[in-house]
Amino acid sequence: MNRHLSIRKIVVDTDPGGDDAFALLWLQSLAKRGLAEITAITTAEGNVSAQQTFQSAAQLLHLGGFDAVEVGRGVRRAVEDIADAAYIHGADGMGNLSHTLPAAGRSFATARDSDDILIETLQAMPGEITIVAIAPLTNLASAEKKSPGILKRAKEIVIMGGAFQTHGNVTSQAEFNIAFDPEAAQIVFASRDDLVVIPLDVTHQLIFTPEMAAQLQYPWKNATPKSLHSSPLTHFIVALCDFMTRTSLTYRETRGAQGFLVHDAATLAYLFYPETLTFRRAQVDIETEGRWTRGKTIIDSRHSTKSSANAWIASAVDCVSVLAAMLEDLKDLTC
Ligand code: BDR
Ligand code: CA
Repeated sequence: MNRHLSIRKIVVDTDPGGDDAFALLWLQSLAKRGLAEITAITTAEGNVSAQQTFQSAAQLLHLGGFDAVEVGRGVRRAVEDIADAAYIHGADGMGNLSHTLPAAGRSFATARDSDDILIETLQAMPGEITIVAIAPLTNLASAEKKSPGILKRAKEIVIMGGAFQTHGNVTSQAEFNIAFDPEAAQIVFASRDDLVVIPLDVTHQLIFTPEMAAQLQYPWKNATPKSLHSSPLTHFIVALCDFMTRTSLTYRETRGAQGFLVHDAATLAYLFYPETLTFRRAQVDIETEGRWTRGKTIIDSRHSTKSSANAWIASAVDCVSVLAAMLEDLKDLTC
């Protein structure tokens, strides 16, 4: 059997974030069809505060019907030198739309810490858990520091982060998830030799457009304006896409194109539609010192035969197929 098509037990480490929201909804649509099992969601500080990402993840699970999944609260990073990304994602990380969604009824104060959930889950199911890391790597690094070797117990770790051939998005050199906590990234990149890394190089091509979001309102063949499909979920997706499109245009995230970058969703494309991505093998190191380069992901490409390597890095993506697959799968959740 194709290993990518067996049922995956997944822990998502996330900091919603507009693109995190799309990834979490896409994953729930796959889980609803029995293609994935969502073991836990560990939230992190990143796009917005830890309190806010916790509440948003809980709301998104409620929206998709997965309330029973545990949500962990993010641990603090050691050095706070990069600001959050609320200017792109909204003050709540969700396009300022969280007040339009039902409250999830969970308490940040009593939730378990994300690093403890990671440790306990990996200890309980060694070799079975896929970690989808779509936030700064603070929680993963903290788990590794508390329990050295624990990340090796994951079946696979898929990271959205880094920039290699293209410039960064938070500084000229660095991508947000790595730059937000470079020390954490350094620990995670030293933890195993088979990390799967989906960098900006490919995700900056994944532009989800308002026209695509509108297709969720008319999911049926031969739809007419009267057959508008309106549910809280489709309404949220359309409004979030509109918000993200506006901020992305303002900050030139999409280089002028209408739409927004669904960076984090590319991790699911790798897991569930592996034919859409191409990879190369490399040793990735993290710059933690540089005044201008802190958070940069570095590959030494001088030696093509270099034997040590810690990662598979996505180098090309079939964006038409990724976006089409995401859209079709989201229809399953919204209908
Ligand atoms: C990454 O940074 C965050 O703003 C996004 O959610 C994504 O995980 C892209 O650089
Ligand atoms: Ca994210």
